[in-house]
Amino acid sequence: MSEIRESVHGQWSSRWAFVLAATGSAVGLGNIWKFPYITGENGGGAFVLVYLVCIAIIGIPIMMAEIMLGRRGRQSPMNTMRTLALEAGSTPHWAWLGWMGVLAGFLILSYYSVIAGWALAYVFRTGIGTFDGQTADGVAHIFQSFLADPEGLLFWHTLFMVMTMLVVARGVSGGLEKAVKFLMPGLFVILLILLGYALSTDGFGEGVTFLFKPDFDALLFKVGEDGVKIWNPGPVLTALGHAFFTLSLGMGAIMIYGSYLPSNASIARTTFIIAGADTAVALLAGMVIFPIVFANGLEPSAGPGLLFQSLPLAFGHMPWGAFFGTLFFILLVFAAWSSSISLIEPAVTWLVENHGMDRLKASVVMGIACWAFGLLTVFSFNVWSDVRLLPMFETFADKSIFDLLDYLTANIMLPLGGLLIAIFAGWVMRTEATRDELDMGEGLAYRLWLALVRFVTPVAVIVVFLHAIEIINVG
Ligand code: PHE
Repeated sequence: MSEIRESVHGQWSSRWAFVLAATGSAVGLGNIWKFPYITGENGGGAFVLVYLVCIAIIGIPIMMAEIMLGRRGRQSPMNTMRTLALEAGSTPHWAWLGWMGVLAGFLILSYYSVIAGWALAYVFRTGIGTFDGQTADGVAHIFQSFLADPEGLLFWHTLFMVMTMLVVARGVSGGLEKAVKFLMPGLFVILLILLGYALSTDGFGEGVTFLFKPDFDALLFKVGEDGVKIWNPGPVLTALGHAFFTLSLGMGAIMIYGSYLPSNASIARTTFIIAGADTAVALLAGMVIFPIVFANGLEPSAGPGLLFQSLPLAFGHMPWGAFFGTLFFILLVFAAWSSSISLIEPAVTWLVENHGMDRLKASVVMGIACWAFGLLTVFSFNVWSDVRLLPMFETFADKSIFDLLDYLTANIMLPLGGLLIAIFAGWVMRTEATRDELDMGEGLAYRLWLALVRFVTPVAVIVVFLHAIEIINVG
């Protein structure tokens, strides 16, 4: 029974506090910055479709599993995995899953903070009217010179990391969770307003077609130098990885949040709300950004700068643009903030549990380490933009440090973590235990969940991995 364990780090005041915090973790840069740009890079509709299928049949069951493990273990992911493994008569080595998650969270936060820093900088830029009446070239130029300046990026990265540490030090159920209650709906409303603007551009039809009309050729093949089509499984792995990334799965963030969840809350219903809100925000962001992209002749495949090169154009031309623009970037910063604290929370709880540190010290130690590692990303957009860390692998040969970190975490570590969570929840834990914790009765819903974590997730992740890894040739 989950009642027998209590988290030393506290508990959410209610199921709603958990829903808000977990939604705060899920909705972030992944939805508004990353989803549109990887959709643009991977050909649009078919990619979106694969992503949605991954959310439905892999993301949702894994989220339920992760919340369940967290609530049953009520400790940091390592200690939770060890406790539950021993309880199920299995090996304590399952704690390694927690370790991989901590490492993934650390690596993700190191670059996440840099990108959140871009959003911070853009709060001020839109505020002072930098984009008023700008052309597409002008906006692109402003973004490029922003990236070219390492000191500027460093400043904003530092500021964002300090903001993250401040909240984590105070405990996650403090102020930010209360703020999320207003900010999430605020973000939604401003996206709707921007959708109104997108509707008024002459790119709306094209944007929505790009987003929702599947073109499987664009997803599954790339065209080689001599014009021949080459089978390319990479984008499917990216869609799968993004399903994990956007729902904050596979690294213990949702597990640790689940460990503060009161025992009487329904895990299934809670999961649907979080996944639904997360997906809605991502699709809305796409429906805002792509019309602007097409109306202004921008490239959908522009990469990580897509958001920062398309939306400012809209803000520069719409009525009250500076106002809406500033508000939009402020809300984006908050969305990123409520995600970043969950990236570092597993590591902090572990330092508190196993090294007797207090929360403040643990947060500062992790924050500084993560900040320092983030310098790699800061420089990968300028002075080290040509540096390749793994040039001997075909898949990584053209990846900058930032791209490499993103690939290793989102495409490899998170799906691997999710795979192990599925195997643990489906095969290692006793069904009486999972049935009891999920509290769904013995009916169809429970059996469907079990079938998904036992068979569908492991098979899907392994198959996608094997295909994608085929292209990692040494050469
Ligand atoms: N889900 C967050 C986003 O979409 C990122 C994140 C990933 C947060 C993993 C926590 C854990 O921005």
